Amino acid sequence: MNNKLYIGVDLGTSAVKLLLVDGEGVILNSVSREYPLIFPAPGWCEQEPAEWWRACTDGIHSLLEGFDASRVAGIGCGGQMHGLVVLDENDQVIRPTILWNDGRTEKEVEYLNETIGKKKISEYTANIAFAGFTAPKLLWMEKNEPENFARIAKIMLPKDYVNYRLTGVHACDYSDASGILLLDVQHKRWSPEMLDICHVSEKQLPHLYESYEVIGTVLPEVAKLWGLPGNVKVIAGAGDNAAAAVGTGTVKDGSCNISLGTSGTIFIASDKFGVDPYNALHSFAHANGHYHLMGVVLSAASCNKWLCDEILQTKDYAGEQKDITPDRLGRNPVFFLPYLMGERSPINDVNARGTFVGLSMDTRRADIVQAVLEGVAFAMRDSYEIAKALNIPIKSSKLCGGGGKSPLWRQIMANVLNLPIEIPVAEEGPGYGGAMLAMVGCGAYASVADCADALVKVKAVVEPDPEIAARYETQYGKFRKIYPALKDVFPQIR
Ligand code: XUL
Repeated sequence: MNNKLYIGVDLGTSAVKLLLVDGEGVILNSVSREYPLIFPAPGWCEQEPAEWWRACTDGIHSLLEGFDASRVAGIGCGGQMHGLVVLDENDQVIRPTILWNDGRTEKEVEYLNETIGKKKISEYTANIAFAGFTAPKLLWMEKNEPENFARIAKIMLPKDYVNYRLTGVHACDYSDASGILLLDVQHKRWSPEMLDICHVSEKQLPHLYESYEVIGTVLPEVAKLWGLPGNVKVIAGAGDNAAAAVGTGTVKDGSCNISLGTSGTIFIASDKFGVDPYNALHSFAHANGHYHLMGVVLSAASCNKWLCDEILQTKDYAGEQKDITPDRLGRNPVFFLPYLMGERSPINDVNARGTFVGLSMDTRRADIVQAVLEGVAFAMRDSYEIAKALNIPIKSSKLCGGGGKSPLWRQIMANVLNLPIEIPVAEEGPGYGGAMLAMVGCGAYASVADCADALVKVKAVVEPDPEIAARYETQYGKFRKIYPALKDVFPQIR
């Protein structure tokens, strides 16, 4: 019996969630601490790295209260991807982090995809440029903030900043590094061509690790500050989607995980490296040492949060959904495009915006709520369709993320995708995955696959209903017509 404890960190966009997990995979405690987002202009989104550290440091004491901290063996973090963290030669943060859902790099994306060319970028990195990726942000900084750009000594991603403060080691894992667009994903090394194009040197970039590898132990001053023993190992960790996939046991070839968090992702694990010929799905490294394909909807559970918090001014999300009975599913005349921060997969359009279509005098409040949940599900289906077109046989999917806690949204997802949706016992995707990676790094399991086999259990399966799924098939056909009709309007109404 392994009597060690592991800390899993989910460094999310709106909050950090910390989990304390025992050697049997049981979650003993969890705490969450929020931090603010900064929206300097429409479609821009930033955050202060100091807030992540403050939130982690604050949360860790509540997490460990009442537990024997001397049993903690390892820490693993799954973090929001793509955010550009830049430090100067004195390790000071140069500017707020430009996040994964920030759309300011339209021109830089155009330069990479059109001037350098998609073919070359894909050859170097296995991906094309998307506004949220890190490399276009470096080009943006070089052009718009040359003094800041000239001061960059270290480039890192959000979870790597936390790991750096924990250990003093400048590290990144392959799954998260894939989203920088400077990594040759297939060969797992920095791409010399991309470094040239983006005017950065390897010296500024982190050392690369597999997600389950140990990068160091906590620094003595951190051990003191966090109340931990000095020998706690910190593992490289993963991008939040790869970590969530580990946490839901999505590690076997062809297995699928859907996350309904701030973003919505559909993640397909693959033993072999592969690229979607249209680059609509990202081709990234997985946290288990292999690869994955992924489609990303930039605003998913955040659409429902926006509707409830900002527009309806309520925190009673479940109450808003209670009038949406199964007979209403697939019959809503109101449609919603969930492009509140532009959209990534598959349309790659920073100018796209959220849109309600089909409102009439008899539209009820619940129809609007339903349209938002459905609009996100339809947008996820867009990525799912691409995976199907690549002949990837997906038979079911796991589901995690805050939105996945809603029984109604689960049902909508199962029927819109016409796919059985499996709900894991531990729904804390990235945090649980982070803890599992720490177990592997500390030697409790020989591999990520062994750890997933031993720990991940499914508690329920939501099956699609043939009648509802058929109605949604028709509705999806209508949804698909809305964006093309508005595509040219969006840039004019910015
Ligand atoms: C993935 C992506 C988002 C963030 C959210 O490419 O941009 O899912 O990782 O944290």
